Amino acid sequence: MYLTPVYLLSLGLCFATRHHGYGYGHSPLTWSASNGAVLPAAPLTASNFSILAPPATDLWHPDDLPGSDNFTAPYITTSVQVGKFKSLKATVNVPWRTQFDQGGLLVIMPLSAAESAAGVKTRWVKGGIEYFGEAPALGVVGTDRFSDWSLAPMPAPPQSQTAATFEAVKNDTTLFIYVVVDGQQQALREVRWAFVGVDEEAELEVGVYAAKPTYDEGSDAGIEVTFSDLVVETC
Ligand SMILES: *[C@@H]1O[C@H](CO)[C@@H](O)[C@H](O)[C@H]1NC(C)=O
Ligand SMILES: *[C@@H]1O[C@H](CO)[C@@H](O)[C@H](O)[C@H]1NC(C)=O
Ligand SMILES: *[C@@H]1O[C@H](CO)[C@@H](O)[C@H](O)[C@H]1NC(C)=O
Repeated sequence: MYLTPVYLLSLGLCFATRHHGYGYGHSPLTWSASNGAVLPAAPLTASNFSILAPPATDLWHPDDLPGSDNFTAPYITTSVQVGKFKSLKATVNVPWRTQFDQGGLLVIMPLSAAESAAGVKTRWVKGGIEYFGEAPALGVVGTDRFSDWSLAPMPAPPQSQTAATFEAVKNDTTLFIYVVVDGQQQALREVRWAFVGVDEEAELEVGVYAAKPTYDEGSDAGIEVTFSDLVVETC
């Protein structure tokens, strides 16, 4: 018996498709830029591109006080059906200078209509390089009700480097965030709640962001975060 791909999908099998800029199925991924990010002319996954983050930008939701749900960082994402998303990977280069300068992967979960109506805040996960306490680090934030933040040391010397490769991988209702060193995944975070109760047919936003929460002393300069080898894997 001949099984069409559609039929195999309905059996729950998943055939990976890697998108290096072209092809979600047979059509290109469509990217959108938000919060002042600018879409590059060339396909995102075919060449390096950058996002310029001005100062006083962030993705951070520490509490319920008015105005503390901060989603001002520029970002570039594409929509992928939740049930079809496998992974997102990119190398990030953050020319950090000042406390909290950062950039990396961004995954924004869809809310159900009932959650939106009830005023539930968007859930999201970011993972990248963040400058903290006079050193760059591997930073991950998972935001469900509030933002949980973790830092890990840069994986290999020199500790002052500006680049690292990150991967976000969906496994059922969990999202893993890895740093990739010499082709090996090293776990940074297991986000168990990421897709719990999320409609498999809903659209997930996946991509990259840059943020500069703190001003450089006496300057309005932003940071230009560069991304390369962006890959979105779907099935
Ligand atoms: C977002 O956070 C940054 C850094 O803390 C801050 O400077 C900025 O005013 C905040 N923006 C909003 C709209 O809350
Ligand atoms: C992925 O999830 C399944 C259960 O849904 C579990 O059995 C498996 O160990 C998980 N894989 C990893 C790498 O955690
Ligand atoms: C693209 O970025 C990678 C990783 O940071 C870097 O090694 C490479 O030199 C860059 N390529 C170009 C053409 O700038």
